[in-house]
Amino acid sequence: MRKGLVFIAIAALIYACGGSSDSASNNTQANAQAVAAAAKPDGEKIYKQYCVTCHGLYGDMGASGAYNLQESALTLEERINVITNGRKAMTAFEALLEEKEIKAVAKYTMKLGQ
Ligand code: HEC
Repeated sequence: MRKGLVFIAIAALIYACGGSSDSASNNTQANAQAVAAAAKPDGEKIYKQYCVTCHGLYGDMGASGAYNLQESALTLEERINVITNGRKAMTAFEALLEEKEIKAVAKYTMKLGQ
């Protein structure tokens, strides 16, 4: 009877160890995903921070002659170019935003017209 208990205890221990190393690798994966999500810039947030002053929340405010983004026919690449280098009254965001942030906000402006 006692031997049986010890055996079960050892089996449980082995199981627990196996299980914990497994969940440890799951945790590592979850952490890596969390880090990736945090590193991925939020286009909507950037838009609301930097672009609404001229383009408005929905892209159609037109302050300072800002183009109506709902009607923009530019491709993603062209938008990235305008945002990076600026155009007429529009500020160049090269010095303010990282490349991936510019890409994220450019993607977000594609949604405004939909
Ligand atoms: C200071 C005001 C101002 C701010 C801030 C601003 N824009 Fe603009 N934006 C403009 C103006 C003005 C134009 C039109 C330029 C022209 O007529 O050549 C424009 C044009 C654009 C265009 C080109 C649209 C087209 O179809 O030609 C895009 C895309 C754009 N803005 C995106 C953004 C994004 C994204 C942000 C924020 C990161 C932003 N803008 C911030 C004023 C602004």
